[in-house]
Amino acid sequence: MCGIVGYIGKRQAAPVLLDGLSKLEYRGYDSAGLAIYDGSAIKIQKSTGRLKVLSELTHDGSTMPGTVGIGHTRWATHGEPNDTNAHPHFNEAQSIAVVHNGIIENYMKLKKKLQGRGYRFVSDTDTEVVAHLLDYYYKKTDGDIIDTITKIMHRVEGSYALGILFAECPDKVYALRKDSPLIVGKGKDGNLIASDVPAVLKYTRDVYFIENEEIACLTGEAIEFFNSDGEPITKESRAIEWDINAAEKGGYEHFMLKEMYEQPKTVRETLNPRIKDNEIVIEELGMSAEEIKNINRIHIVACGSAYHTGVTSKYILEGLSRIPVEVDLASEFRYRNPILSPDDLVIIISQSGETADSLAALREAKEQKVMTLGIVNVVGSSIAREADRVMYTWAGPEIAVATTKAYSAQLIAMYLLAIHFARVREQITDETVSQMITELKAIPAQIEMLLANKEHIQKIANRYVGAKDVFFMGRGIDYAIGMEGSLKLKEISYVHSEAYAAGELKHGTISLIEEGTLVTALVTQKGLYKKTMSNIVEVRSRGAVVLAVTNEDNTEIEKTADYVIYLPQTNKYFTNSLAIIPLQLFAYYVSVGKGCDVDKPRNLAKSVTVE
Ligand code: G6P
Repeated sequence: MCGIVGYIGKRQAAPVLLDGLSKLEYRGYDSAGLAIYDGSAIKIQKSTGRLKVLSELTHDGSTMPGTVGIGHTRWATHGEPNDTNAHPHFNEAQSIAVVHNGIIENYMKLKKKLQGRGYRFVSDTDTEVVAHLLDYYYKKTDGDIIDTITKIMHRVEGSYALGILFAECPDKVYALRKDSPLIVGKGKDGNLIASDVPAVLKYTRDVYFIENEEIACLTGEAIEFFNSDGEPITKESRAIEWDINAAEKGGYEHFMLKEMYEQPKTVRETLNPRIKDNEIVIEELGMSAEEIKNINRIHIVACGSAYHTGVTSKYILEGLSRIPVEVDLASEFRYRNPILSPDDLVIIISQSGETADSLAALREAKEQKVMTLGIVNVVGSSIAREADRVMYTWAGPEIAVATTKAYSAQLIAMYLLAIHFARVREQITDETVSQMITELKAIPAQIEMLLANKEHIQKIANRYVGAKDVFFMGRGIDYAIGMEGSLKLKEISYVHSEAYAAGELKHGTISLIEEGTLVTALVTQKGLYKKTMSNIVEVRSRGAVVLAVTNEDNTEIEKTADYVIYLPQTNKYFTNSLAIIPLQLFAYYVSVGKGCDVDKPRNLAKSVTVE
């Protein structure tokens, strides 16, 4: 994970870098640092803790003059979060500074070799190896920087996006990448590098996506690119359409709250362009009716909340299109030698499009020559570029570590896909499609209604700020909703929480229910009401307090549950889009009530670009 930035141009670099890092803090935030060329040497300032600490230390960058620099916000992998392990890292002569996102897998071997040549290491990081290796080859090539960089590319194994400064060549910033994201922004009064687009949006919308094993060399006025053999290459820039305000809090207390409130818009933007004349048209899918009819099996592969989208989608895709669906965690899929057949379709769901395990799963599928489809939010990300087809979720930049609006957009994309496949395979009629489209179009306004009910949920949440364990239960899609509700709660409020298939409770979990334990029951599937109701009775008779989330016609539940949140009427396949809203709000208010850092929960990062 980690975020890297670099700037060279007419402005003072440090404030630009600090601003860029603030947009990348979602990638890691246990320490931060800057390296600035001050006219005679490279100066580094770094500190443990949030970026705020570094900003204070440098008086918002004003104590670090200079117009060329690189910066870093860290999510520790090798070496504990402390000042020494924070980036940037220097070579011994302090003439080369490096920031790194990724993992150098063969760093121990390289470290030993370098130590054998007399290099002394001060940190526990894998990154420091790069600084010394650059020093070694820089001397060996008589200061040929491109040659130096290509040499280290051939020596280093693993993943990296690197930003590099050479004191002997102070009018340039160098950057390169392999398997970790990197973009270059072409600004009016300076050029930038960054791990992600929001970091440069304030200065430019003109962006180059750096491919694996490409090198960028920036001056204030120009940008050159090279391949891994050091040969110049040309690249086209892309205009980014994201609104800059999308990466700001805009008056909300937290990004998560703002992003929850953006969900109606996100749903509309993912939905509307794909509905034409009362039909679902997914142009970017580029699959013929024949190909869709021939799909033998769908494999959905993802991590975290995107995996939960996958679990929900299994019920919907199988229910509507009758295509068998398997859902895998990407970290499992990639190492289990999955059995894929040529008529299968592998769907990778990912907000960032950069999650290391999801990307590896995609590559595994491609290797087996199976058609791949990415459901991705970040335009131009690795998964979007490498998948055979890509369907974008138009959620815009999501900053809070805990996903909300991107998850909601993923659900919509998957509903559209399921309905489209079902229609092409003649499992549903035009009338059903038309009815579903009406129901889909109602979702944004229904989400608005649920968000307006936030105070009711806040009151319930306030009572559970001290909760030790919370359970979520449901059957079918309700189980999948519970998984996401549970993840939201545990990741931002540090309350232990688990989701259970309600029928499975009696095989273990019920022994954990004590007097006063909160159980959130998801009861949105009419055909399963009675079954889940008996489970509610079972946990209540063992002392649980039950918070039920159910449809507005299920008022019977008030006799059994302690708290009830009603959802407006929708199609049984779309209930996740509504039920998740109160669960997001609940997690949010428990976290706020406990005084946790809602947007940046401890130990987590938004984009997990390491295994
Ligand atoms: C991290 C984030 C989650 C996200 C998961 C997968 O754990 O905190 O919110 O669901 O990664 O990320 P992706 O970008 O692939 O959707």
